[in-house]
Amino acid sequence: MAEAEPLRPIELQPQPKTVQELAAIDGKEVPERYIHKADNNGGRALDAPFPVLDVPTVDLQLLASSSSGGEELEKLRSALSSCGCIQAINHGITSAFLDTLQEVARQFFALPSEEKKKYSREIGSIEGYGNDMILSEHQILDWTDRLYLILSPEDKRMLKFWPENPESFRRILHEYSMKLPVILEVLLKAMARSLNLEENQFLQQYGDRATMQARFNFYPICPRPELVLGVKPHADGSVITLLLQDKEVKGLQVLKDDQWFNVPIVPQALLINVGDQLEIMTNGIFKSPLHRVLTNLEKERITLAVFCLPHPDQEIQPVEELINETNPRLYKKVKDYVSLFFQYYQQGRKPIEAALL
Ligand code: OGA
Ligand code: NI
Repeated sequence: MAEAEPLRPIELQPQPKTVQELAAIDGKEVPERYIHKADNNGGRALDAPFPVLDVPTVDLQLLASSSSGGEELEKLRSALSSCGCIQAINHGITSAFLDTLQEVARQFFALPSEEKKKYSREIGSIEGYGNDMILSEHQILDWTDRLYLILSPEDKRMLKFWPENPESFRRILHEYSMKLPVILEVLLKAMARSLNLEENQFLQQYGDRATMQARFNFYPICPRPELVLGVKPHADGSVITLLLQDKEVKGLQVLKDDQWFNVPIVPQALLINVGDQLEIMTNGIFKSPLHRVLTNLEKERITLAVFCLPHPDQEIQPVEELINETNPRLYKKVKDYVSLFFQYYQQGRKPIEAALL
């Protein structure tokens, strides 16, 4: 591939209605732009039964202690090399706090449209409340509304997009954002140790100018779950993603060995998945999983994803020690992966291919 100029996506006119507004219209009909044709989908209805993915549960307390935890490290390594995700428990955030966080998110999305639209995203930018960016006429749309907020560095926050209703929203989200760096550090160090690397290898590449971005996903009830996806298949452009799943409603699926699996809910766990940038750093040993979200006929679903992203100037590349004769280097050095990601995503290609040698 020729060296691509970083290019910000060019957004077409957004849909006039949020998905929540569409869902409030009575009837079985869903606009054409949300429908996935069966041939797009291996001929398989989206409401068919799917097997459940065995996502290993990993204890972060054990990972954090350098004396014990050998078994936990091995569990981590093996999970991230196969399905690309773990259920992280003992992460130091109380269940009462996670309940509160889920509750303020629920209260925000339950507000009248007019109130939520005070925080609307502006065309061409990602932050704020609203729909998918529409980048092409042919794009099939996701059955979800989002609230996208930069959490850190703090001076990059755009408070005008941070809800003031419910009243505690900002304080709770801020508090959550303060708890995440510790978790990230424990994880990145343990990931390095699990591959017999010096423990700061991934942290160093991640850098100290990195950003955390929060995406609240609201999936309204959908009258045609057999034809519509909450989020279409994608891998994350992050180093890692921390996902707080809905406590009751499933929907997330991961592709493993060319088959879609349901991701179970483990109450109070954070689902951690490898993003493309960590797959690059590990030279493909850790897998950035393709995942998607199904819709639900009966229940709304709310999740909160936090993407951990290096500064766009930061160079990301496979760690030297992981390259040898049997494992030749797969990926080149990349910078500003998120821009590459958008270009490829827009063309319906797998973004990580842009980083292949
Ligand atoms: C995402 C994502 C999954 C979910 O926001 O990138 O994959 O279950 N979300 O909401
Ligand atoms: Ni994702």
